[in-house]
Amino acid sequence: MAIIILGDRHAGAQAPAVPDAAAVCLSCHGPFGRPETPEYPIIGGQNAAYLASALRAYRAGQRTGEAAGVMTGVAEPLDDRTIEDLAAFFSSLRSLR
Ligand code: HEC
Repeated sequence: MAIIILGDRHAGAQAPAVPDAAAVCLSCHGPFGRPETPEYPIIGGQNAAYLASALRAYRAGQRTGEAAGVMTGVAEPLDDRTIEDLAAFFSSLRSLR
């Protein structure tokens, strides 16, 4: 599955490990963080600090709007460490742009 392909692609490179929590993200944000439909934002290759701050904002309920509720539910159980790991991982997919 996608996660294994990503791991192979980065074998030998200094890529962050694929966090376990990333599996669920791919179901909406697509393999490589590049969704197949426009209702999900591209997160692959985004700035890591931006991704982490977005996730913390969802977790805190600070992002509102039509679709934000989905991400609030996703982000609520994440601890800070997991958020940093997820941000580093999705950011590392930059080369696939
Ligand atoms: C059920 C579908 C779904 C899942 C699962 C999901 N997301 Fe999302 N995500 C969305 C939608 C929809 C939005 C846009 C929400 C909005 O309008 O604020 C979004 C937005 C985001 C954003 C903000 C992007 C931006 O450009 O501001 C980030 C970061 C993000 N998701 C990361 C993740 C991560 C990391 C995971 C896994 C832990 C994840 N998402 C799981 C549907 C999903």
